[in-house]
Amino acid sequence: MTENSKTLRPLEEITPPMIYEALNQGVLGQSTALRFVSVAIYKHTTGKVPGNIMLIGNSGTGKTTIMNNIQRLYHQTPEYEAFRAMTIINANLLVDSERMEFQPSRLLTAVEQRARALVGEKPNPSELKEAMEQATICIDEIDKMSSIVAGKPNAIGVVLQQGLLTLMEGELVAHHTHAWVDGVEKKVTIPIDTKHMMFICGGAFETLYDQVYLRVVSPSSGEKLKSQAIQTADGQVRIETRFALADFLKPEDLFEYGMVPQFMARFDNIVLLRELDTPILKQILLKSIDSPFNRSRSYFEILNIELDIEDLAASLIAEAAEKNNRAGARALRTIFGKIVNPLEFDPFSRPELEKLPEGKFKLVVNADMVRRIVQA
Ligand SMILES: Nc1ncnc2c1ncn2[C@@H]1O[C@H](COP(=O)(O)OP(=O)(O)OP(=O)(O)O)[C@@H](O)[C@H]1O
Ligand SMILES: [Mg+2]
Repeated sequence: MTENSKTLRPLEEITPPMIYEALNQGVLGQSTALRFVSVAIYKHTTGKVPGNIMLIGNSGTGKTTIMNNIQRLYHQTPEYEAFRAMTIINANLLVDSERMEFQPSRLLTAVEQRARALVGEKPNPSELKEAMEQATICIDEIDKMSSIVAGKPNAIGVVLQQGLLTLMEGELVAHHTHAWVDGVEKKVTIPIDTKHMMFICGGAFETLYDQVYLRVVSPSSGEKLKSQAIQTADGQVRIETRFALADFLKPEDLFEYGMVPQFMARFDNIVLLRELDTPILKQILLKSIDSPFNRSRSYFEILNIELDIEDLAASLIAEAAEKNNRAGARALRTIFGKIVNPLEFDPFSRPELEKLPEGKFKLVVNADMVRRIVQA
């Protein structure tokens, strides 16, 4: 423990709403998912069984961002020091496709690296074991490890899902590494119990949307899509019929997609991320810590230029991003990038540059700049 351990709060006092608040700085508009994640982190950090989580959501809706923000939370919260052995890994890295073997060692090696950073220079086996067993494991792109790919059986997917399900249930894995014993560094085998690890998996499950949509709209399904009035940034209203996967998804849909039922049974919560609509995209653009606007803003700060954006300009960018709904919030980066690049390139030649007192400047992204790009 560090010197300031006196000022650290007991872990029980860092409540799920506080965890939520911290995650919400980087992940916007996904309150349902963040609530599940916050409760799981609370349970995990207070020594309870966290319950594994599966995050399902379209590309660019925030799955990887959630994982990154859990990592940020662990690193920025001094009380969570012991939990920093966290790993985010793509599912395909956990299988050896030639030997058709599940490779938990790849996961544990990644966890061990983090654990080493925690326990200091000459860790003994039990210090490593302790840090590793408290790990949070995020497995991304899990949907690519389906047991069916393009209508054909995908054996490697089955291997991965079966391997993972055993690991998630709690398994003693013999982990080969080296550690310090009686002042000497030796080869050691550490039995790692995965029972107390927290697992979060995520995937876009791209064809799941069409698969469920087709089931729902088929005449015999007895289900009905919902209509909704949408107001545009320019003040018009149009009616849209929207298909939200969350309204219709059943476990059987995931089995049909190619997820092994026993594997899915290891998840206490299957959480769907929502589609990001214009108001949320606008908030992501303006407020999330890592938003394209904030990044650009800090770039201009170096040049003594304060970057601002008109409210309408932000709405128009968000609206254009929503139209590109295959990319989710990624579209914000692309669109905003195109708009701001000419400004970033040579701001001092821009007629829009305003001079402020004390050698400072101001530049405002306005609606015209956005229209020039999005209507091009
Ligand atoms: N809910 C969100 N809140 C804040 N930023 C977001 C959100 N969703 C996406 N972003 C931003 O969009 C980009 C892509 O998001 P992310 O990588 O999380 O997508 P993903 O859901 O993992 O998609 P994929 O299935 O393609 O991997 C990131 O730069 C992130 O900053
Ligand atoms: Mg991702």
